[in-house]
Amino acid sequence: MNIAVFVGSLRDDSLNKKLAKSLEAVAPEGVTFEYVDLNVPLYNTDIESPYPEPAQKAKDAVLAADGVLIVTPEYNRSIPGVLKNVMDWISRPYGANGFDAKPLAIAGASGGPIGTAVAQSDLRHIAGYLNMRLVGQPELYFTLATDKFGEDGLAKPEYHEQLRGFMENFVAFIGK
Ligand SMILES: Cc1cc2nc3c(=O)[nH]c(=O)nc-3n(C[C@H](O)[C@H](O)[C@H](O)COP(=O)(O)O)c2cc1C
Repeated sequence: MNIAVFVGSLRDDSLNKKLAKSLEAVAPEGVTFEYVDLNVPLYNTDIESPYPEPAQKAKDAVLAADGVLIVTPEYNRSIPGVLKNVMDWISRPYGANGFDAKPLAIAGASGGPIGTAVAQSDLRHIAGYLNMRLVGQPELYFTLATDKFGEDGLAKPEYHEQLRGFMENFVAFIGK
């Protein structure tokens, strides 16, 4: 089973990158993660045809995937622009939405106590419009996350059960 993974932060030491890697580490056997590169042009209808190669690569990763996992920070009470931009690309051209009917799970990490709840809520609106099959529960708000990762950059052992449960549920959801 192949999951297309979007991490909504570009920075090297991203908590969300660490959370995505931690989910990958505890995912059921046979599950592979393909990380989608968010470095695509700014969406502009004028350059939609021919479809830019980086955007096509991102779209192809979604089309080939059994499911989509988005692990994102919250920026100004919504999702980061880089994430929305690549999603806009994949939804286009009109009538060829790459996300159509794809199973989606959402997670997020932050150093604060809100744990990306507002961004995730916004993302659920977008995903509904894009006709994705959205996992409702369990939600994954990795709050106060700075201290939850070890030296290896992965979640500490006490969080493995929570993360494993999240992935097992997603895999079962994809299979339904
Ligand atoms: C532009 C910007 C806006 C932010 N807005 C929020 C916010 O609305 N809510 C929040 O909890 N944290 C906010 N933060 C803090 C991020 O949650 C924090 O930097 C987080 O670690 C970023 O994720 P990353 O570690 O994966 O890069 C913001 C950070 C930036 C850079």
